[in-house]
Amino acid sequence: MLDIQKIRADFPILERTVNGKPLVYFDNAATSQTPTVVIDTIVDYYTKYNANIHRGVHTLSQEATDAYELARKKVQSHFNAKHSHEIILTSGTTHSINIVATGFSALLEAGDEIIVSAMEHHSNIVPWQMLCERTGAILKVIPMNQDGELLMDAYDALLSSKTKLVFTNHISNALGTINPIEEIITKAHQHGAVVLIDGAQACPHVKPDVQALDVDFYVASAHKLCGPTGVGLLYGKEEWLNKLPPYQGGGEMIDQVTFEKTTYAGLPHKFEAGTPNICGGIAFGAALDYMNAIGFDEIAAYENELLAYGTQKLLEIEGLKIYGTAKQKTSVISFNIENIHPYDIGSIVDKLGVAVRTGHHCAQPIMDFYNIPGTVRASFAFYNTKEEIDILVEAVKKAKMMLS
Ligand SMILES: Cc1ncc(COP(=O)(O)O)c(C=O)c1O
Repeated sequence: MLDIQKIRADFPILERTVNGKPLVYFDNAATSQTPTVVIDTIVDYYTKYNANIHRGVHTLSQEATDAYELARKKVQSHFNAKHSHEIILTSGTTHSINIVATGFSALLEAGDEIIVSAMEHHSNIVPWQMLCERTGAILKVIPMNQDGELLMDAYDALLSSKTKLVFTNHISNALGTINPIEEIITKAHQHGAVVLIDGAQACPHVKPDVQALDVDFYVASAHKLCGPTGVGLLYGKEEWLNKLPPYQGGGEMIDQVTFEKTTYAGLPHKFEAGTPNICGGIAFGAALDYMNAIGFDEIAAYENELLAYGTQKLLEIEGLKIYGTAKQKTSVISFNIENIHPYDIGSIVDKLGVAVRTGHHCAQPIMDFYNIPGTVRASFAFYNTKEEIDILVEAVKKAKMMLS
C-alpha cells in the first residue's frame, strides 16, 4: 500500500493553485511532475560540481564524469541491460528513434518492409517514413480494433521474409493500450526482423527488462518518469549498436581525427557527440532511484485502482464516450462528450484548476481512425488521488452544462 499523502509531499508543485483552485494535475502522459529529490539533484549539480565531462583532469570534471557514468549504470540496472555501453543517453525518445531510423538508411534496400502499429506517436511514424523515402523501403501498418487493440492476426499476415524492422509502442499515449510486445518481438525475430519498442509511455508504469524481452532497441524519456526534460535513453543490443553508423559527428564520438580520415569511438560514445545534458542525465538516475524506492508493482496496482475509479465515474456522465477500452490498459482515459469540442472542455476544466490534455496527442492516425478531431485525455500518476478524480468529474459536468 502506498502512502499517497507522504508521496504527494515529495512534489512541491502539487501544492500550488491554478485560477484560485488547488491544482489537479492529470497531464502525466505528457510529462510527469518532479519530486524534491530530483530538483535537489539538479541544484546540487549546478551549485557544487558543474563541469564538462570525459575531458578534464580537474576535480570538478572528474566528479561530474563519475556522477554521469553512475547515472548510466543506474539506467542499465533499471532496464536490466547486459552492458552499460548499451545505454546511450539521448535527449529523449524522439532523438533515440531518429538515431536508429537514420542509422538504418545504410542497412535497408528498396522493397524491404518496415512494420509499425496503427497507434503510434508521430515520433514513431515520421522517422520511419523519412527512412522509407531515403531507401525505397515500404511502410506497413498493423491495424487495430475499436477498443484500440492491435489485430495480431493481421500482424502475422504482414510478417514475411521482406520484413526488416518492426516498431511499436509498449503503451499507447492516446489510448493507454498495453501492447503484447513479447509476442510482437518473438514473431518479428522468427522472420529475422529487428524490433524497436517505444517505451515512452510504459516506463512510468512498468519496469521493462530488455534482456527478458530480447528486444533489439528500447527507447524512453526521463521526463515521463519524474526526471527532467531533455534526456532519455536508447537501449540497443551491442551487436546492433555496433552495426549502426554514428548519428551525429563532433567531439566526444571520435577515436582519431585527421583531415584524411576519422575513426569513431566505441560504445556508448559513438552516439553521444557533443556535450550531453550532463545534469539531466544525473537527475534521470535520481528519478529512477526515487521511483524504484516506491516500487513499480505498487505504482501499477494503485494506478489501476485510479483507472477503474475514473472510468466508472466519467462514464456516469451522459453522452461521454471513452476511446481506448482495451482489456490491457494503463491509467490513461481519452474521452469526448457528444457534440462538444475537446478543446472547449479542456479550457473550462483548466479554469477549475484541472490540467488535462486536449487534441490529437501527436497521434493523428488514431483520431482519423475514430473520425474525431481529438480527445480530452486525463492521465493519472501514482501521486494522484480519487478525490482529484471527483474534482475532474465535477469540472467536466460543469463544462458540459455550459457548452450544451
Ligand atoms: C508513445 C510516445 N512516444 C514518443 C514520445 C515522444 O517523447 P519525447 O517528446 O520525450 O521525445 C511520446 C511523448 O509523449 C510518447 O507518448
